Amino acid sequence: MTTHSTSGKTLAGKNPKNSSVTMTEIVLPSHTNSLGTIFGGRVMAWIDIAAAISAGKHARRVVVTASLDALHFVAPIKLGHVVHIKATVNFAARTSMEVGVRVESENPLTGELTHTAKAYLTFVALDDHGRPTQVAPVIPETPEEKRRLEQAKIRREARIKLADDLKKQGAQSVD
Ligand SMILES: CC(C)(COP(=O)(O)OP(=O)(O)OC[C@H]1O[C@@H](n2cnc3c(N)ncnc32)[C@H](O)[C@@H]1OP(=O)(O)O)[C@@H](O)C(=O)NCCC(=O)NCCS
Repeated sequence: MTTHSTSGKTLAGKNPKNSSVTMTEIVLPSHTNSLGTIFGGRVMAWIDIAAAISAGKHARRVVVTASLDALHFVAPIKLGHVVHIKATVNFAARTSMEVGVRVESENPLTGELTHTAKAYLTFVALDDHGRPTQVAPVIPETPEEKRRLEQAKIRREARIKLADDLKKQGAQSVD
């Protein structure tokens, strides 16, 4: 069994199915732009909420969004369509977790599903004093879960390298 152990505490690993969430919404007139399709910001808010629920299920702690990256809008979502926001923890490091989110829209008249967006977010678990605290490792079982975990590790390394490279150039974390 894979565990995370620091400060004498040992946390048993959890399968991604433990943190799997599907949030379902419908596109209302107040969500749309002048083209009759959804605002990107509305989808981003739903992504953040679904991902936060997913990270919270994995950590069973208060979690905060640390960053959002690789957000891609690949197709518009129309007024009246149903939106499914699927989130799962792909990988957990020490106190942070990467959550992968896939957004699909559903035509309510035909049932046709369209992949509309995807994103990766990093959440950090906090202890009772608001400090980062360790989380359980992710234990993948299926080939798909294993692939997602390995790719999440690559993205984490890339994020850390980018931050280090920018620091060496004298950049602030947010420019
Ligand atoms: C996220 C936050 C708790 C990190 O605190 P910190 O003091 O930088 O903590 P640390 O440097 O000890 O890093 C803790 C973990 O967060 C990760 N982390 C910190 N900043 C990160 C970022 N921008 N992106 C991804 N991961 C990040 C670190 O890699 C580390 O992960 P690990 O323990 O798994 O290796 C802090 O920056 C914060 O509170 N941010 C505001 C969060 C918030 O309010 N979100 C709501 C939306 S505005």
